[in-house]
Amino acid sequence: MATYLVFLGPPGAGKGTQAKRLAHELQIPQISTGDLFREHLRQETALGKRANEYIKKGELVPDEVTVGMVRDRLSAADCADGAIFDGFPRTASQARALDEILDEKGATLTAVFCVDISEEELLRRLTGRRVCRENGHIFHLEFNPPEEAGACDYDGSELYQRDDDKEETVRERIRVYQEQTAPLCSHYDKRGKLVEIDGEQSIEAVTESLLQALADGQDE
Ligand code: AP5
Ligand code: MG
Repeated sequence: MATYLVFLGPPGAGKGTQAKRLAHELQIPQISTGDLFREHLRQETALGKRANEYIKKGELVPDEVTVGMVRDRLSAADCADGAIFDGFPRTASQARALDEILDEKGATLTAVFCVDISEEELLRRLTGRRVCRENGHIFHLEFNPPEEAGACDYDGSELYQRDDDKEETVRERIRVYQEQTAPLCSHYDKRGKLVEIDGEQSIEAVTESLLQALADGQDE
């Protein structure tokens, strides 16, 4: 059966870091709506320019734009065995849309991970984050530094700081998360899908917790 996982959690919680590690482990693609928007922007598409109007303010891109993009991505052949959603769904309406899309495929969500972390730690993580231009590989100047300063360990491309990682925008992103996305945790909890994860552990320990939770879920 196909595996569909969701990562919920505030900006900087480690969703992207962990989704990439699980994607490698489980051999299913990571679908980060933030990365997809940034790729559109890089290619200067109309969707990318529209999305950036919201992203630069720390607001959510409208649901119809986001859902359409996810639907397209999920129709690709590499999603046949499942996918790991990173930063999607983020609103009640996106959660409903995801149910519908999976329903059409005769599939259901396997688990929803909610990554828990303090605001102080989020700010530390986001101000030190650096991302690679080519493939969005994620580093941290202190917690996960690249071998060579300014270059990606995996593809050698330049590392940059995201425009929306300015403190003021980060605070707005956290506010939007609390208001629009955090309520989804209880929604998925009621459906028995939620797994709470302590995001303040080391990167490796968080991955271990995730894999353990998946193994426990299979035993049930
Ligand atoms: P998106 O790109 O999804 O950003 P986000 O949710 O704000 O999350 P981040 O990517 O900032 O953090 P993360 O949890 O992935 O952490 P990471 O692994 O990088 O969205 C950007 C924008 O796009 C949104 O604001 C919105 O405008 C729009 N958007 C996206 N999806 C949307 C949707 N569905 N609907 C509407 N709009 C949407 O880690 C952070 C740092 O910490 C890194 O430096 C990493 O190395 C480090 N780190 C990670 N784990 C650890 C650890 N355990 N210990 C120490 N350091 C760690
Ligand atoms: Mg991310």
